[in-house]
Amino acid sequence: MMNKLFKAVLIAIVMFVSVAFAQNEKINIVPKPQSIEYRSGSLSFNETTIIIAETFRAQEAAAKLNNYLQALYGFKLKVVKNRPRRGGLLFEAMEESSPAGAYELRIDSTGIRILGGSQGMFYGLQTFLQMLPSDKQRAVELPHTLISDKPRFRYRGMHLDVARHFMPVEFVKKYIDLMSQYKFNYFHWHLTEDQGWRIEIKKYPRLTEIGSKRSESHLGPYSTVFKGDGVPVEGFYTQEQIKDVVAYAKARYITVIPEIELPGHASAALAAYPQFGCKADYKYEVKKTWGIFKEVFCPTDATFKFLEDVIEETIALFADSPYIHIGGDEVLKDHWTESPFVQELKKRENLKDEHEVQSYFVRRIEKFINSKGKKMIGWDEILEGGLAPNATVMSWRGTRGGIEAAKSKHDVIMTPTDFCYFDYGQGDPAYEPLNIGGYLPLEKVYSFDPVPKELTAEEAKYIIGGQANIWTEYLETPAAVEYMAFPRMLALSEVLWSRQEMRNFADFQKRLNANLPRLDKQNVNYRMPEPGGLQNIVTENEGVTVELIPASGTRVFYTIDGSTPDVRSSIYKTPITFWLQKDEVKTLKTVVVNSVGRKSSIYTATIVRGKVLPAVEPTGKTPGVNYSLYVPSNAYAQDTEPIKGETKSIGLQQFAQRIDPKQTFGVTFEGFLNVPVDGVYEFQIDSTWNRSLSIDGQELIDEAGTKDRAVKSAIVPLKAGWHKILIRYDHGDGDTFLRVRFGQKGQGLREIYGGELVH
Ligand code: ACM
Repeated sequence: MMNKLFKAVLIAIVMFVSVAFAQNEKINIVPKPQSIEYRSGSLSFNETTIIIAETFRAQEAAAKLNNYLQALYGFKLKVVKNRPRRGGLLFEAMEESSPAGAYELRIDSTGIRILGGSQGMFYGLQTFLQMLPSDKQRAVELPHTLISDKPRFRYRGMHLDVARHFMPVEFVKKYIDLMSQYKFNYFHWHLTEDQGWRIEIKKYPRLTEIGSKRSESHLGPYSTVFKGDGVPVEGFYTQEQIKDVVAYAKARYITVIPEIELPGHASAALAAYPQFGCKADYKYEVKKTWGIFKEVFCPTDATFKFLEDVIEETIALFADSPYIHIGGDEVLKDHWTESPFVQELKKRENLKDEHEVQSYFVRRIEKFINSKGKKMIGWDEILEGGLAPNATVMSWRGTRGGIEAAKSKHDVIMTPTDFCYFDYGQGDPAYEPLNIGGYLPLEKVYSFDPVPKELTAEEAKYIIGGQANIWTEYLETPAAVEYMAFPRMLALSEVLWSRQEMRNFADFQKRLNANLPRLDKQNVNYRMPEPGGLQNIVTENEGVTVELIPASGTRVFYTIDGSTPDVRSSIYKTPITFWLQKDEVKTLKTVVVNSVGRKSSIYTATIVRGKVLPAVEPTGKTPGVNYSLYVPSNAYAQDTEPIKGETKSIGLQQFAQRIDPKQTFGVTFEGFLNVPVDGVYEFQIDSTWNRSLSIDGQELIDEAGTKDRAVKSAIVPLKAGWHKILIRYDHGDGDTFLRVRFGQKGQGLREIYGGELVH
């Protein structure tokens, strides 16, 4: 008897546990809520569910829910004012929270309740939508739950550069929609640049007549020698369109911050109004290539009048934004140094150097912005020469500027390149779309903490949040922007919303995977996550087995013969075993196909049978990479003398070198590279003429004597630490090109040396 009862209880417990577990699996919210409590039981949600909305705010939220339901599932729910005894979905006002956005979502046998202040109610709705299936079903069983949530930071931003490449209004709205889905609340709209002015200013029509157009852009990867692509780029937003976008964002609790770049990145404005530059008779033009330029605004009264007029019209369009962003980054000072006016100004205003001129410029603009009741944001260069008294600093060159600003009691928005530059690559450049370089995978974004350890708790209060930036030099279309933004935006949403101590990448990946079908439905061209388990392997065994974990709903096709996989290749079902000869290198290439049939880029893993090369002690000069130019005795000779004995430590920089046209020459690139972790590494040499590479004395590429442009790569397992590198590049005559890249295989190669040699 007892035994039977015991069994029944045990079965009940097992059933309860497994039901509760199944329910947990259903709730996959990004960003992760502060607290989710699961209760037993579930509630049916279907087309007959009634929405109860008593207040105006609640009715707004109800209308939004119905819009989403219509768009995603093709039905709307009935909205009533008065509450029935049981059931239904109730929107209920809660006190406004600080930071704004706290909400509660309660699902129990009495119905669904979404409680929040105005923004909170909207976020509760967003969470609720993520609980619904991505495909229409007759009814959804929602687990009984109590979600209680609020944001960690009050500034959760995404930036978009619409100047390098213009992005249409419809896309800007889609971007805003997607931001709001993941509880971002600031959209930083980068509207002016060297390559285009994109905001209509009625007082200065030439800004858009002239400044919004360029005849073409630089073709392919950046180089100092311009090659045009022949494709005109133009476009700007009328003031009406801007008002429309701002209102659209406001309805989604997103504040739009305009950026008007000054005093640098001003070529497009100066092409339209050259009188505001420092140089008379100078050909200002809308730039067709990327980088940093000498063309800057001149700090004359006329320029300030112009900029104040522009800012005044801008403020009127972005009335809800407490901030105006003025750029302030990457200002080359040459034109100021050469300007008699600026030199006179320095004396008059007692400015020590050109950094102080920049500070004078920015402070004067801040005074104007503050006088209009707005706050100014600038990139961290505005710290140089003295920070404007009330400025908020966007720390992009790492976190140092942000730390300094927070210590001096200025608000800071963290957007360091290493974690927040979503224009950086996400994988092997051999397969990824052309991008600006770098390597910022999803997991690294996820690992970001906007509050630097260097700050005390008191100082940390000045870190008001963070933001990712999407610069569009290499992103010509909305689809290209989406590929860089997603899913990294989801990782950042969790960085900015959820508490630091509750973050867990594996748990995030599971919730991310559950979100992807919705992004498919919304036609978002996100970069599909790599299959789990795909990684480089160095082994001394002849056999090695690789087990992949495809995300649910995806299929993985693969090859092991080096060919590019597609849907006709083998489909991954069971672990793959590789057999390798001594020193053999094999490549596992995969392509992921998602539930709607879209194919990923190619994701690869390299399997090497061999020994990891041990680290070496750097000898001779300071560790680092040096190069010297030399003149071969003939085009392909090896034993030569350096030109002028020139040796430079160049680290990760680009170079451009002008060579005496009568000379033939070559380059030796020699030194030590610091390898961060044990692993499989790749060296890639892209050059016009012959090249050779050796690592720790092992010849890995030997192509002396060839003279066709080619990309050659070598794969080598290396131990963490220093390794000796020697690259020789011999050249006959004419302009030439050399690019050396290095990195962990499959993880984005970094350029360690590169540029043009120009006759
Ligand atoms: C920047 O990336 N120049 C702010």
